[in-house]
Amino acid sequence: MIAGLDHWRTMSVLQQPVWPDPAVTDQVAAEIATLPPLVFAGEIDQLRTRLATAAAGRAFVLQGGDCAETFAGATADAIRARIKTVLQMAVVLTYGASMPVVKMGRMAGQFAKPRSSETESRGTTSLPAYRGDMVNGYDYTPASRVPDPRRLLQGYHTSASTLNLVRAFTQGGFADLRQVHSWNRGFAANPANQRYEGLAGEIDRAIRFMEAAGADFDELTRVEFYTAHEGLLMDYERAMTRIDSRNGTPVDTSAHFVWIGERTRQLGGAHVDFFSRIRNPIGLKVGPGMTPDELERLIDVLDPQREPGRLTLITRMGAGRIADALPPLLASVGSFGSTPLWICDPMHGNGLTTPTGYKTRRFDDVVGEVRGFFTAHRDAGTHPGGIHIELTGDDVTECLGGSEHIDEATLATRYESLCDPRLNHSQSLELAFLVAEELSARA
Ligand code: PEP
Ligand code: CO
Repeated sequence: MIAGLDHWRTMSVLQQPVWPDPAVTDQVAAEIATLPPLVFAGEIDQLRTRLATAAAGRAFVLQGGDCAETFAGATADAIRARIKTVLQMAVVLTYGASMPVVKMGRMAGQFAKPRSSETESRGTTSLPAYRGDMVNGYDYTPASRVPDPRRLLQGYHTSASTLNLVRAFTQGGFADLRQVHSWNRGFAANPANQRYEGLAGEIDRAIRFMEAAGADFDELTRVEFYTAHEGLLMDYERAMTRIDSRNGTPVDTSAHFVWIGERTRQLGGAHVDFFSRIRNPIGLKVGPGMTPDELERLIDVLDPQREPGRLTLITRMGAGRIADALPPLLASVGSFGSTPLWICDPMHGNGLTTPTGYKTRRFDDVVGEVRGFFTAHRDAGTHPGGIHIELTGDDVTECLGGSEHIDEATLATRYESLCDPRLNHSQSLELAFLVAEELSARA
């Protein structure tokens, strides 16, 4: 045990499963602690530098992926489609904003979910809520809903194989900017990817011109792609935390970036304490209930040194509330001596349930919150540093609207998320074009 790093054990730990046999959980955690790290301290430090650049207004961050990854969904096709979608969005943003884009997946570890209720009821029955594949099964049976700590190990291995593919796709030539057209292949035709084709053509011409002029494009063959997930399951995150032999500091090697969710960000709570002690860049979800005072105290705990790139504030206010809720926070941070990176999550404040029982979001609300985010930052003179999106490369029908006009009746045709509704490929690209317009309007 390392003093400090285990201090959270003395505190209230919210949103944890009730493991049936804590001794088995301890055994699993001990085994995970012996497994190789998924990411490396050097990569983590590099990401912190990139995020510092974004916080200073010289880069933009794109974080995207599933609400909840599943073990069954960790297939080559699904992972490739998601990476292609993020790469396409990044190209649209880079081109539109003439700014580097830091690419991060909600991937290779996003297997655990906080829940608003301990139980799920259907008809007259009630079972423990599904908490993500790393905890229990989605099937609505008593056996499947029992938390099983061996799922932590399966989560580690699925993260490892996902990350292996992510590294192959992003380092092995697939992410080469000269492939910009091929990322669009395999997706159903829609107005957004037609618009993308136009932009890809422009990029192609620019690259051919530069090549003819003698530029060296070796740098373009690889892209940096970082992993991120909500740091929720303490048994897992603690077991994945290793001491960096170079300088003795703790690094959570489960992902490059971990964030503290809106439901577990209490001052004096276990999550805030634990994540304050690791060296990774960390995120903090900030909902409309956050006051400047509370934010100052959280910044004091999570980023006492005011270190550039250390802390990312991921605001998720809701389209209807952002104009009131964000400006007071933006106005106050300067006086705390803090220059955090601000990212907009336009998903989690905009949930609704249809009369037919589908959890969904309106694309227009997502757009509305993004626009509100840019307006608030413009007014405050702060940098709108990035977006955080739940998306999939598949042509699902989970969010209402977009240029394909998904309506309530269409939701049923291809609704696959086990948790929150995601933007599909077309809606993701559409959003990227819109954000690029906002960014270039600032330039
Ligand atoms: C999430 O990002 O999936 C999530 C649960 O968000 P929040 O903590 O902001 O509600
Ligand atoms: Co979600």
